[in-house]
Amino acid sequence: MYFYVQKFFCIVQVSFFHHFLTYLCKNTPITNINHMKKAILLSAALAVLAGCQSGDPQLGKASIDKVLKAMTLEEKVHFVIGTADGNLSGAVVGATKQIVPGAAGTTYPIERLGIPSIVLADGPAGLRIDPIREGDENTYYCTHFPIGTLLSSTWNQELVESVGESMGQEVHEYGADVYLAPALNIHRHPLNGRNFEYYSEDPVVAGKTAAAYVRGVQKNGVGTSVKHFAYNNQETNRTGNNAVISPRAQREIYLKGFEITVKEADPWTIMSSYNKINGTYTSQSKDLLTTVLRDEWGFKGLVMTDWFGGDNGAAQIAAGNDMLQPGTSTQYDQIMAALQDGSLTEAELDVCVRRCLELVARSPKAKGYAYSNKPDLKAHAAVTRQSAREGMVLLENKGVLPLKSIKNVAVFGCTSYDFIAGGTGSGNVNRAYTVSLLDGLKNAGFQVDESQKEAVLKHIADEKAAFQASLGNDQLAAFFPTPRPSELVPNALELKASARNNDVAIITFGRNSGEFFDRSSADFHLNAGEKKLLNAVTTAFHAAGKKVVVVLNVGGVIETASWKNVPDAILLAWQAGQEGGNSVTDILTGVESPSGKLPMTFPVNLMDAASSRNFPIDASNEVYFMNRREDVGEKNVDVTNYEEGIYVGYRWFDKKNLPVSYPFGYGLSYTSFEYSTPVVNNDGESVTATITVKNVGDVAGKEAVQLYVSAPESTLDKPVKELKAYGKTKELAPGEAQTLTLRFPTSELASFDEEASAWKVDAGTYTFLFGASSRDIRCTATADAAAAETPAHRVLLK
Ligand code: BGC
Repeated sequence: MYFYVQKFFCIVQVSFFHHFLTYLCKNTPITNINHMKKAILLSAALAVLAGCQSGDPQLGKASIDKVLKAMTLEEKVHFVIGTADGNLSGAVVGATKQIVPGAAGTTYPIERLGIPSIVLADGPAGLRIDPIREGDENTYYCTHFPIGTLLSSTWNQELVESVGESMGQEVHEYGADVYLAPALNIHRHPLNGRNFEYYSEDPVVAGKTAAAYVRGVQKNGVGTSVKHFAYNNQETNRTGNNAVISPRAQREIYLKGFEITVKEADPWTIMSSYNKINGTYTSQSKDLLTTVLRDEWGFKGLVMTDWFGGDNGAAQIAAGNDMLQPGTSTQYDQIMAALQDGSLTEAELDVCVRRCLELVARSPKAKGYAYSNKPDLKAHAAVTRQSAREGMVLLENKGVLPLKSIKNVAVFGCTSYDFIAGGTGSGNVNRAYTVSLLDGLKNAGFQVDESQKEAVLKHIADEKAAFQASLGNDQLAAFFPTPRPSELVPNALELKASARNNDVAIITFGRNSGEFFDRSSADFHLNAGEKKLLNAVTTAFHAAGKKVVVVLNVGGVIETASWKNVPDAILLAWQAGQEGGNSVTDILTGVESPSGKLPMTFPVNLMDAASSRNFPIDASNEVYFMNRREDVGEKNVDVTNYEEGIYVGYRWFDKKNLPVSYPFGYGLSYTSFEYSTPVVNNDGESVTATITVKNVGDVAGKEAVQLYVSAPESTLDKPVKELKAYGKTKELAPGEAQTLTLRFPTSELASFDEEASAWKVDAGTYTFLFGASSRDIRCTATADAAAAETPAHRVLLK
């Protein structure tokens, strides 16, 4: 609650500042923001000039060593802290915020040393800045790309990289320097409210997707901030929760994706998380931020806190958390006091200052990049439309899709009219529009039955207004995911007429969630209204010999087992960004065959997931803020015990041999594929697998192939199988084949042995399983590996 109040007041403060500067602009000859921007750049240039004349070393011209040496102790301490507090003397506080309003933070500028303030702005579904600026007629909308979970569902690293490249172009052209994305915490539990920003229950999918994203964004010469490092797997009490996790589960599950991203993509920065790990705030854990991240993985960039994260600025600096965002004067005092009493040395501070200098020096701002404020939004709309369709997962299809010889379509479900582009909180993107399913279908030339439209739109608007009124505060309302509207179910006569007049029915069920809130178990299930709508529409349309398609416009896992056989097809569209309705229509009509596959398991029952025993599940449909909930108590609020260890997602369902509704890796296509006999070779350095995939169906399509490994008998408890690599074919024409080569380091066959504190590969014969999903293994091969051991620091202990 404390954090929430703090963040709320920070917003009020920031907007106050924004208004103050706008007032200044309006009352000086500087009449618009672009002039203001030029004035700031001019004054920065003059400052550089002044610095040169005074002989002070200038960042970018003099060496980092020289600039660091020239800094006073006060300047150093200011420099490692962001500029949110209005009282940091000497800073052009707010000036850069005025250049990129709506950005999340800025760094501390020091004019005499030519150190500009650089801009940090959110993602991960696109750049989050304010779309409108006072006194300025231009607009600054950004593209809302698909949510993270949809991107990982593509199983296509090249595609993710190209989406990242488009996002990075917007970051660059709107004047931001570091993009606060990607987010890759593990989907430990289906109800984590931020799962939509994250990628997978599996660390290889999470890490490979994040690495591709980082490579794409950073091609533009801007940075990324890979977040939230680490173990941020619930929103409930996220700033105080202590995650109690075994070193093995940390290393194999929760850290692995970050390790892959650091090693394969070299992100400029990493954002530490809010929570504690085994009793220590991650932002204050030297084990995590220095020993593991830098000493073991070789990370060379900067670590910043999550916003207001941790409780001791001096401990953060000592741990190697180089920059504190958005910055408070309390942190300044804490660092100064620690320097004075000797618990923090200036040498320790210098390590962080140096990294901050290195970050600023490589930024577009420091290089004087003249950004256009005109990214190619048109091109990016095409990128989001095309990429979104590749992450949609076809769950069921009883001969109805793709829609052929269909002209008249009836749409049901409020969400069909009000499509959800993405989740809420810092992951929201201020886009210019969202294409609804209704509009997407109309754009494709369908005759859509609009007899319900007016009533549905009014109903949605009324419920939204009532909800916002219940919060009693607009700024507060901006944080809350609007609850799903209750469904309007047409009566039997209306449905009969609809079934007579239309060729097919499409029902959309929507779910929204976001930062600050975990989902409730009520959100996991279809509610009574949704069930009633599904049954009533299906009964009427089936009676008329017509089919029914369900579209799921959701950000996370929902219950499907009890109703999945009712409609004729189910398309899991996720939250597909601003072009959502067009992307869904492209799949429904077969412009492209679906090729998305699930990056997580859809369980039969919520309680089947091992982590359900230790997750703050709330049964009511109330929206709770991230503070304590009385009905949950301390368990999983103050302390969450990750009792399930490494048995997250399919690793658990496989171990227990539990039935699932849809397994990890599952997804249908309009065509089918045949897998050839694979070849696997281990040369001691890397494992190389090749397999040929042939399209044996009637239409073109892509196939994602998953390579799992099953280890020989070991002294350690081993999962039945674990994903080690995956690849996707290009679009294969009917009859066409492609050979995929999947490779990973032999050292990745290891498990983490806590007793030895080492990664251990057991000697023996490994089985390599080639799957169309985790429960659809098409063929296997074996290869031997020799014993190997890589020691790791004995840290992060329980
Ligand atoms: C979120 C981060 C975000 C930051 C800046 C925090 O509340 O957890 O993901 O980057 O705010 O907006």
